[in-house]
Amino acid sequence: MPGHAPVLVSHVLRLLDPQPGQVVLDGTIKLGGHAAAILPRITPGGLYIGLDWDERMLAQARDRLRPEWDAHVLKLYAASYADFPEVLAQAGVESVDHMLLDLGINSAQLDDPTRGFSFEREGPLDMRFDAEGETQAVDLVNKLSETDLANVLYELGGETHSRRIAKRICQARHSRRIVTTAQLARIVESAIGRSGRIHPATKTFQALRIAVNRELENLERFLEQTPQYLKPGGKLAVISFHSLEDGAVKRFLKSAKKSGTFEELTKRPVVADTDERDENPRSRSAKLRVAVRVESQ
Ligand SMILES: C[S@@+](CC[C@H](N)C(=O)[O-])C[C@H]1O[C@@H](n2cnc3c(N)ncnc32)[C@H](O)[C@@H]1O
Repeated sequence: MPGHAPVLVSHVLRLLDPQPGQVVLDGTIKLGGHAAAILPRITPGGLYIGLDWDERMLAQARDRLRPEWDAHVLKLYAASYADFPEVLAQAGVESVDHMLLDLGINSAQLDDPTRGFSFEREGPLDMRFDAEGETQAVDLVNKLSETDLANVLYELGGETHSRRIAKRICQARHSRRIVTTAQLARIVESAIGRSGRIHPATKTFQALRIAVNRELENLERFLEQTPQYLKPGGKLAVISFHSLEDGAVKRFLKSAKKSGTFEELTKRPVVADTDERDENPRSRSAKLRVAVRVESQ
């Protein structure tokens, strides 16, 4: 599946080292790329619990994996990884051997104009992974105050022109509600101009997507709950795609080391080698951290 290759898969396999009979929680199964690599390692006797907030992704994972893996081996849930304890309870599982998160957006979502994730495709300003989610990008863009909007763009997108963009957005929405991706992309471009190859709306779109899906809050909520549900010796693997995510994982593992719950196996985050970077552009910003659950004293 071009464009859908799972990232850092050989490193995930090497560091998690899944074994027959083990239980794996995959918080972001999407099309099941990592799942397809891990499932043969945990059988016979293992269980793979896959979650995705996006029902459409989950349906595709089901189509792809179900023919080979039945419900005794593979259980799929439309849920946020931040709510994984409820999912485990539903699955009748108390603790797991490995947990995996592969964060961020994927190309199937980016390429679908109806999802509103891309400034390159005209579509509604939606950006929700969860179609039932309360807040869409259109709400933030049209309702946040100029200051709050600028803060979102700066804090979640690292956009240094945040104030100028927020001001222009507020001027524009005064005369006409901003409802499409193309409309917003044009407004950002008119605020800060265009230079170089990167589209001027890149950081604005990233910031809005993170805010709409409360990505950092969800990641932190997920991490905080992991020690309780990982067996001693079990492993936690997180693949992140920007410094805010990696920073949250790094901070968590640092304090977990102090409190004696996790020991990081990757002293530095693992990144893709040249071949993978060439073959799969998405892997270029991927960072993998893996930690082992330390036996409680
Ligand atoms: C990069 S993809 C995962 C790719 C997958 N590991 C594979 O190998 O095919 C990230 C997925 O996370 C999902 N996602 C984003 N936020 C989520 C959340 N809070 N809970 C569950 N899934 C989420 C997205 O819908 C997307 O399908």
